[in-house]
Amino acid sequence: MPESISMEDYNKKIKRVIVTKEEIDEAIRKAGKEISDSYDGRPILLVSILKGAFVFMADLCRAITVPCEIGFMCAKSYYEGTVSSGLVKITMDLEQDISNYHVVIVEDIIDTGRTLNDVVKLLKTRNPLSLRVVTLLDKPSRRIVPFNADIALFTIPDYFVIGYGLDCAEKYRNLPYIAEYNEKGE
Ligand code: IMP
Ligand code: MG
Repeated sequence: MPESISMEDYNKKIKRVIVTKEEIDEAIRKAGKEISDSYDGRPILLVSILKGAFVFMADLCRAITVPCEIGFMCAKSYYEGTVSSGLVKITMDLEQDISNYHVVIVEDIIDTGRTLNDVVKLLKTRNPLSLRVVTLLDKPSRRIVPFNADIALFTIPDYFVIGYGLDCAEKYRNLPYIAEYNEKGE
């Protein structure tokens, strides 16, 4: 059950802003242009991985100036030790048949690389016309499964971050910027 939290405790956990709203806006404007320019009117399906990517998706799709459709999926990966089982559990699947689309996966952050590695493998089995990955944040130093996004808006060090869709225990997704999370809250 959700518990009440004092605003003081809530705010103390926001250690410092890492990426400002203005920096996010500017990077999304550029990514939107890059995506708009590269598909040339061909059918695009933006696929957002929930929940973390919902804010990024909302802003990115409005920075795209060519026709595009949107879809959502919820994915969780399961692993034994550090090796990917290759099993991604789709807790909510796309409603579209993607075989007639150029798919652009829209993700919040690539950390170990496991989730996206599995999602990409799965979506490829459905034969999209093409498949690219755009991520808001990339933490390459944390990678366990080799995986590179086609577009990464910001590369960050190994901080746990919150805001702009990213959560800690489901909170802070509504911050308009990306901040480092202060575990101790001191
Ligand atoms: P991966 O499979 O390890 O690449 O994990 C990706 C998922 O872990 C992301 O989609 C996020 O939901 C979550 N995640 C990884 N790092 C962070 C973080 O710093 N803050 C919040 N969520 C994170
Ligand atoms: Mg996520």
